[in-house]
Amino acid sequence: METKILKPTFENLKLCANLLKKGEIIGAPTETVYGLAANAFDYDAVSKIFKVKGRPQDNPLICHVNSIKMFRSLTDDNSVLIEKLITNFWPGPLTIIVKKCVAMPINVTAGLETVGIRFSSNKILNQLIGMCSFPLAAPSANLSKKPSSTNAHHVANDFNGKIPAILDGGTCSVGVESTIVKIENGCCVLLRPGFITLSMLKHVSKNVEIDKGILIKHNSNKQAICPGTKHLHYSPKADVVVVKGSLSSFIKYVSEKLNSKIWCAVFDGEQKYFNNYVLTYGKEVNEQAKNLFSVLRKVDDLNLDKIFFRSPSEHDLGLAVYNRLIRAADFNVINLD
Ligand code: TXA
Ligand code: MG
Repeated sequence: METKILKPTFENLKLCANLLKKGEIIGAPTETVYGLAANAFDYDAVSKIFKVKGRPQDNPLICHVNSIKMFRSLTDDNSVLIEKLITNFWPGPLTIIVKKCVAMPINVTAGLETVGIRFSSNKILNQLIGMCSFPLAAPSANLSKKPSSTNAHHVANDFNGKIPAILDGGTCSVGVESTIVKIENGCCVLLRPGFITLSMLKHVSKNVEIDKGILIKHNSNKQAICPGTKHLHYSPKADVVVVKGSLSSFIKYVSEKLNSKIWCAVFDGEQKYFNNYVLTYGKEVNEQAKNLFSVLRKVDDLNLDKIFFRSPSEHDLGLAVYNRLIRAADFNVINLD
């Protein structure tokens, strides 16, 4: 099958909507990362997503809506807190886990009684959903375990020849996947950090809790609240090592180790301390979020054996970058100070 990369013209959006209506799956942009989208009510189309991604069957998908009305057609959940989250953060990079109310195909929710729903702020995606008139189930558009895609070229890299089309909406403005929350006994539980930060959530909800799975490795004997967090994730082929500590201790620690197969990734401006074998992934945390997956993909392009990453801040959006990095590193974190 030929994979067409399509500019988001009206005609191309129509073409993609028709493919989705026929049960095909396509790559589509959101403000966070690209998604691999199917009609959320079409079991067979949703199965194709799991197949091409190589995604474990126990990992549910997020459903994307383009209106509050469409959201209400998928759930009866209307607690005060959910209404507040919607009012404050939608459309935007927030996924809310709610009780599902309609007969959604079992593979979308991996058999759970809940469904993750998101109203993205991406106009192309929302126009596409409008043309389809059904919600789109879409995980991130990457092969399972691999870094997410933040441009159409990344999606083509992973799925060329396996999907009919990719809508090219340019580079994603956020760069890391949506914040995921679930409401439990009036408390907002953060399951995956993202652009909607802990402090932003605290402005809306008196009680906010961080799920432990954000910072520690999942114990395989326990059931994960957010099934995706128990699988190895975001990983290039190379070993990733996250190094905490000052710039001077980082330089001292890695300098002797670097060679054509072992590189480091530092903040913009710090590359001058290394003669060679160095990548940068942004200075401010917004840039780091935007660049992270491109840099992890570059590590594969360079065919490296190992990469040492300067550890980002763990505050606000930094927590999201840190959370993805420690997973890419399979929790291999070195503390120098
Ligand atoms: O920004 C995003 O959220 C992107 C774009 C495409 O929207 N999507 C995305 O999907 O990151 P995915 O499938 O890569 O990650 C979704 C995460 C998984 O870890 C999954 O386990 C969790 O959401 N999830 C989905 N439904 C859930 C549910 N009902 N309960 C708990 N976790 C759920
Ligand atoms: Mg993903």
